[in-house]
Amino acid sequence: MNIFIKGLPKVELHLHIEGSLEPELMFELAKRNQISIPFTSPQEVKAAYQFNNLQSFLDIYYQGANVLIHEQDFYDLTWAYLLRCQQDNVIHTEIFFDPQTHTARGIAFETVINGIDKALKQGKQELGISSQIIMCFLRHLDQDSAFETLQHALPFKDKIIGVGLDSSEDGHPPEKFTEVFQSAIEHGFLTVAHAGEEGPAENIHNAMKLLGISRVDHGVRCVEDPKLVQQLIDDRTPLTVCPLSNTKLKVFEEMKDHNIVQLLRQGLCVTINSDDPAYFGGYMTDNFMAVAEALPITQEELVKLSLNAIEASFISDNEKQKLTDKVMEFNQEISTASN
Ligand code: ADE
Ligand code: ZN
Repeated sequence: MNIFIKGLPKVELHLHIEGSLEPELMFELAKRNQISIPFTSPQEVKAAYQFNNLQSFLDIYYQGANVLIHEQDFYDLTWAYLLRCQQDNVIHTEIFFDPQTHTARGIAFETVINGIDKALKQGKQELGISSQIIMCFLRHLDQDSAFETLQHALPFKDKIIGVGLDSSEDGHPPEKFTEVFQSAIEHGFLTVAHAGEEGPAENIHNAMKLLGISRVDHGVRCVEDPKLVQQLIDDRTPLTVCPLSNTKLKVFEEMKDHNIVQLLRQGLCVTINSDDPAYFGGYMTDNFMAVAEALPITQEELVKLSLNAIEASFISDNEKQKLTDKVMEFNQEISTASN
């Protein structure tokens, strides 16, 4: 199973680039930019990554992002993530970034987007990994700030496929951002939103109704509303599920309690993703492996997870077909070899 999972071509749809900042790079950037951080070694940073809910993680995560200052830093961050993608056989990735985390510290929007974009272009050329960029609004901030961020993004529309909604779900429901999402749609952006991670199924329902979303990020609490589950199945609205994130942030106590296989077997378009791999102990392969070790899942179902992610991605039908062929070829080769 391990060899199968490692080799399986994968597509990632839920990855916060700031959440791929490994402690070693955090230290290097802190030194390079003369930013003081409250840790004396990367080991000490890792030891501090003990979370009991989403907020306890977010507090540390926003602090970590303070070391990112120059375009080169965002490039280095993104390039390091792409090298991990290569190791895990991730063939396409759609990454989130949080502009407000940086613009609030006086970093220009263009510094952030240009650094990320440069690395992604190089990733396509040198590693053959295709990608898209989604910018997220921080939901703990107000809608005016989201509107301001949307204005910042307009000159870079060619680089950004969609907008999303992340940060603290508790107390910041999707309806707080109805107008700015409407405006983003009018400007031609696709939309997604974190919903039903810590918050109730009602947030998923409202994100679908009011924000025009093409995918639900997390969405695991949909099971609390059987009618909503049926709607997700009927519409094939994808869920970008993040297993290691969910156990680290205590959405599920242990991986054996996770509902991903149950959702898959009910016919939902579920996918596996790493969310913030530097903080939650694993990239794509680690997430697939953790699920396969703790839950009853077949090779066929693991392939289905990859095919679901291709179906849910924001690429052309032609590109989707090429990625599907890669997954099916791999599956064929492995089946032939084991017979
Ligand atoms: N930002 C980064 N990771 C997140 C998560 N899992 N939920 C909400 N906001 C986030
Ligand atoms: Zn997330």
